[in-house]
Amino acid sequence: MEENIFIMNHPMIQHKLTLLRDKNTGSKEFRELISEIAMLMCYDATRDLPLKEVEVETPLAISKSNVIYGRKLAFIPILRAGIGMVDGVLKLVPAAKVGHIGLYRDPNTLEPVEYYSKLPCDIEERDVIILDPMLATGGSAKGAVTIVKKSKPKSIKFMCIIAAPEGIKALHEEHPDIKIYCAVKDKCLNEHGYIIPGLGDAGDRIFGTK
Ligand code: PRP
Ligand code: URA
Repeated sequence: MEENIFIMNHPMIQHKLTLLRDKNTGSKEFRELISEIAMLMCYDATRDLPLKEVEVETPLAISKSNVIYGRKLAFIPILRAGIGMVDGVLKLVPAAKVGHIGLYRDPNTLEPVEYYSKLPCDIEERDVIILDPMLATGGSAKGAVTIVKKSKPKSIKFMCIIAAPEGIKALHEEHPDIKIYCAVKDKCLNEHGYIIPGLGDAGDRIFGTK
């Protein structure tokens, strides 16, 4: 089965990703980098937004020019680590609404446990981008997509920073219609379900909890 995946290998993203991986990068810089990478990735992930031609008056003449037309976006971070990507994507699309899905991985089974969900009430009119820096086993992503699909948005994309082959495969098998956007596809998972080489525990590094 062909993977529905877009790897964003722009030099700016790749440079910031290297800093993000570095174990010596502290929480403040880590948060800034996650946010900047999310903004740069969102720029490419919204490339298919439709345009409409309008007229605009410049100081010198009337010009035909384009505006984004007929699409409303919603960003849905998976708590906790997805929160780190929100302010970056909102810099690019300030009018977007933001929903939240709370999921954590049971450390023994690695299965996602849902503890919170609050989505925009007009989500049926919106294109959704789910945000989570890490796609590891894919359990959290699959769970989030299943929750979001029930609310019938116009479309769903999944945007992460680092994806493991196992997570890409699992998400693609369960939801083949979902486009995955990532900055890099890493090597594998370790026995605890962490991405190798990865960047460690994204939530802990963003919030300084370990
Ligand atoms: C991390 C990460 C993803 C999930 C990925 O969250 O932010 O949500 O793990 O792993 P998976 O693909 O195997 O499901 P975690 O469960 O550590 O929760 P946290 O964000 O609250 O720290
Ligand atoms: N969650 C993380 O934060 N990091 C991983 O490597 C895997 C899951």
